[in-house]
Amino acid sequence: MPPALDGNDWWRRAVFYQLYPRSFQDSNNDGIGDLQGIISRLDYLAGHDDSLGVDAIWLSPTFPSPMKDFGYDVSDYRGVHPDFGDMAAMDRLVAECHRRGLRVLLDWVPNHTSDQHAWFLESRSSRSNPRRDWYIWRDARPDGTLPNNWRSVFGGPAWTFDEASGQYYLHSFLKEQPDLNWRNPEVVEAMHETLRFWLRKGIDGFRIDVMGMILKHPDLADNPLNPRWTPGSSEQKYLWTSNRNYPDVYEAVRGIRAVLDEFPGSMAVGEVFGTAEEIARYYGPPGTLDGLHLAFNFQFIHETGHVFTPWTAEAIQRIVANAEDATPGSALPCWAFGNHDRSRFISRNDHDGRGLERARAAAILLLTLRGVPFIYYGEEIGMADVDIPEARLQDPARFHTPGRDPERTPMQWDGSPTRGFSAAEPWLPYGPAAVNVAAQLHAPDSLLALYRRALRLRRQARALRQGSLRIIPSPGDVFAFERRMEGEPSATVLVNTAVHERNAALDSPGLVLLSSRTAREGERVGRDITLGPLEALVVGHG
Ligand code: GLC
Repeated sequence: MPPALDGNDWWRRAVFYQLYPRSFQDSNNDGIGDLQGIISRLDYLAGHDDSLGVDAIWLSPTFPSPMKDFGYDVSDYRGVHPDFGDMAAMDRLVAECHRRGLRVLLDWVPNHTSDQHAWFLESRSSRSNPRRDWYIWRDARPDGTLPNNWRSVFGGPAWTFDEASGQYYLHSFLKEQPDLNWRNPEVVEAMHETLRFWLRKGIDGFRIDVMGMILKHPDLADNPLNPRWTPGSSEQKYLWTSNRNYPDVYEAVRGIRAVLDEFPGSMAVGEVFGTAEEIARYYGPPGTLDGLHLAFNFQFIHETGHVFTPWTAEAIQRIVANAEDATPGSALPCWAFGNHDRSRFISRNDHDGRGLERARAAAILLLTLRGVPFIYYGEEIGMADVDIPEARLQDPARFHTPGRDPERTPMQWDGSPTRGFSAAEPWLPYGPAAVNVAAQLHAPDSLLALYRRALRLRRQARALRQGSLRIIPSPGDVFAFERRMEGEPSATVLVNTAVHERNAALDSPGLVLLSSRTAREGERVGRDITLGPLEALVVGHG
């Protein structure tokens, strides 16, 4: 069993696994996953020779919540939702993770609370309530229209009128998710205290929800029209200039970092959106890096707006090159191919029925790039989006059709009718029985086996885990790069995104350490190499 990563900068060498608690494992047969269920499945993730071999888990929100946005509407930052268990279960989960060398991140939601949070109930109760200013309240404009033109990320206006107190409140998401006022120092302090609460309990860090929206334009200025928008286009009508990546956010980020620094070895990864340069700003300036430890780069999922990134060498190269250029100083890019908000990789890349082959190549890319990878639960067995019948749709946020349920379905542990998840009707329907852990665990050609080999290789080959990255100019359809570290064998990674064979050149001969076409592993290769259709491989040198 591999030892836990040591040192306060353990996260620099870690592979993270995002798990959606409602969908990982149900232990009390109510059809909803829970903390005890997760505990019972930890051996799958770490601690044994045949575990997947990840270093840390991120739990999507586990706090008390009316579940309007499945936990991203928090009504108490210091508790555990009864659907998931109680504080004792959370303490057990953390202890059981740590025993296996796994770190634990919770999902901290600072931009908004639930409208049922005690703070909002007070804030809403009257204009003179001391907590009124903890949220963002405004009068209608003199002509009776909304305070500004901001839109909710989920569609519709970002303002809801409160009849009783005669003002509008701001909600960047659902109306049940009012935005906190991060310009009020009491809010900042109260939210910092929620971080300390968990850090004192031994949580290792946080994924921070919509980091880039917590501070808006001080005058809440209207957003400009999007020049690319035309009626009926998929573009959004307004840009997000006043309420996303607004410069004042970085000061708040530094404040959050200062709290984390009180607890050496803790860390945070921010959900941020934008260009590589916009993402880079969240790390802080190159000299100080006093921002977040990590900021997600989601460009392998979508580059602008809601358009999915194609699996082409050209797109991959552009994204990696931009991140390499923009990521400041010794900071590391942070990569993901999927999460609970976006169609799963395999479904996004399956137009010709070859999504699984691309998923195999993507696994190799994800785990060999310079930076910190996040695996989304089920990705390692090739779970795809599940068609959800209209009557069973759960996600209230249909900002893209058909909402986010298809990528949130229960983990498929075995091929039985319950998939090993729950004896009760699951909260979302299962996917096809054939895609499951049990079928893949001991099958060397399986996607799961490939993930495990890739994780093992990454642990063993220091150049892959910690080395520098140099993009190797390659013929169209092939993305290639070299990972190098002083005193260590180097490695070359080649990804053929074409559905045909492609030839590529290596600087030196080597040995195929890992391939999406398993049979090739162990093959000696010269300087000229032929890649199979959609093949990705790692060649070790020296
Ligand atoms: C983030 C979460 C998403 C949630 C939203 C509002 O984007 O990932 O699931 O709905 O924030 O909190």
